Amino acid sequence: MIKQKKSIIILAAGNSIRMCSNLPKVFHFLAGKPIIQYVIDTAKSMDASKIYLIYGQNGDFFKKKIGEQGLIWVLQTKQLGTGHAVQLAAEYFQDDENIIILYGDVPLITKKILNRLIKIKPYGGIGLITTILDNPKGYGRVIRNNNNVVGVTEEIDATEEECKIKEVNTGIMIANAKDLKRWLNQLNNDNIQKEYYLTKIIAISHEEGNKINTIYSNDSIESYGINNRLELATLERIYQKKQVEKLLLSGVTLLDPSRVDIRGTLVCGIDVVIDTNVIIEGNVVLGNNVKIESGCILKNCIIGENTIIKPYTIIDNSELSTDCIVGPFSRLRPGTKLESKSHIGNFVEIKKSLLGLSSKIGHLSYIGDAKIGDNVNIGAGTITCNYDGANKHKTIIEDDVFIGSDTQLIAPISIIKGTTIGAGTTVTSDIKESGLIISRMKQIHIKNWKRPTKKNK
Ligand code: UD1
Ligand code: CA
Repeated sequence: MIKQKKSIIILAAGNSIRMCSNLPKVFHFLAGKPIIQYVIDTAKSMDASKIYLIYGQNGDFFKKKIGEQGLIWVLQTKQLGTGHAVQLAAEYFQDDENIIILYGDVPLITKKILNRLIKIKPYGGIGLITTILDNPKGYGRVIRNNNNVVGVTEEIDATEEECKIKEVNTGIMIANAKDLKRWLNQLNNDNIQKEYYLTKIIAISHEEGNKINTIYSNDSIESYGINNRLELATLERIYQKKQVEKLLLSGVTLLDPSRVDIRGTLVCGIDVVIDTNVIIEGNVVLGNNVKIESGCILKNCIIGENTIIKPYTIIDNSELSTDCIVGPFSRLRPGTKLESKSHIGNFVEIKKSLLGLSSKIGHLSYIGDAKIGDNVNIGAGTITCNYDGANKHKTIIEDDVFIGSDTQLIAPISIIKGTTIGAGTTVTSDIKESGLIISRMKQIHIKNWKRPTKKNK
């Protein structure tokens, strides 16, 4: 069979009225990603000639937020309805191509069902995805006569009898561009909402004598439309449940599957354990036997085998090798790299730094723009003073250095292998020869010194 050319149009210009939001509806997040991005990603996977995105107010914000992404952006200044939205792009359609219409607020539509939709197109004027819902509230109802689809009626315009119909319009359809243009020209806004409904083309096409072929979506989540925050939260829960089910079945222990949020992709090795209230963002990879304790946030990171992340630790764009221990209450900021067996304790912040094999930063420190060698011990309260108010500077600490507590390292600075820095030292110049470095006010002892007392009133 010759492959028919196709383009895709995504409708995303609607107002955010039911969302009660200044932010366009399709920019709200589902599992950490804007709703619209799911639809764009699926559209891009479909090998379409062109992808049109109909957008509305806040257009510049729209483009800045997600980038142009190679789409054809078509502005709908006034939201006169879904039919009007398609009309705006119709002038660009080539007569001989098929057009797939996607709704920007139906994020989890799959490539699989769209491919099924493409397959039914040659057998009718319109291919339409429908689904059966126990509670069809809010959706357009599919009207059939002797089993043939004769139209779609919006709930607001439906009779009491029509409202009882459980087969609903998902909004997603395919039609030939030339036909589509002809049907769109016949739309009017003669309905309660005074909108140009795209769904009216179903009846128009039927009246022309065309067959409307339907396929059922059996998975209600792929056709779920988001109109308000309750629906968004409901879909988020359904989506999260699916994600954690996959993880559990692939061998990951989730101590409470209802208290983990995957806002991106998580790839796990064998016998990974994840405790409660962990949030995964972006792309996260956990090696065999990794344990993530309660309340951690992991974003775009790789964590090597046998590493333990203790409670309330935040790891962002970092790479951790095997057998490390991090936390509780640590923060690893972008560009942190920990080599094997390193140990980061509580209230330690690390940014854009490398920590070598078996090195330790046990407590209350800030390490930024540093390169730290193997077997280094950094005492409590050590600060790399990396910023002079204008520029960032590097700290280099070679292998086997011991840094006593409450040390300030004024960068740029480098400390040679094996050096010991005494507690309370401010290191201001490079240490080129090992030994003990100490800068500390000499301790004085004033005997018979009296504490001040409160004056009588
Ligand atoms: C629409 C369908 C309904 C279907 C449901 C499925 C129509 C008239 N109704 O209803 O039959 O059951 O989706 O989810 O199509 N949009 C524009 N420009 C506009 C209006 C809307 O681009 O002028 C966009 C919206 O951003 C949204 C999509 O089109 O992404 C659907 O619009 P919405 O108002 O949500 O339609 P529903 O009432 O959900
Ligand atoms: Ca909708």
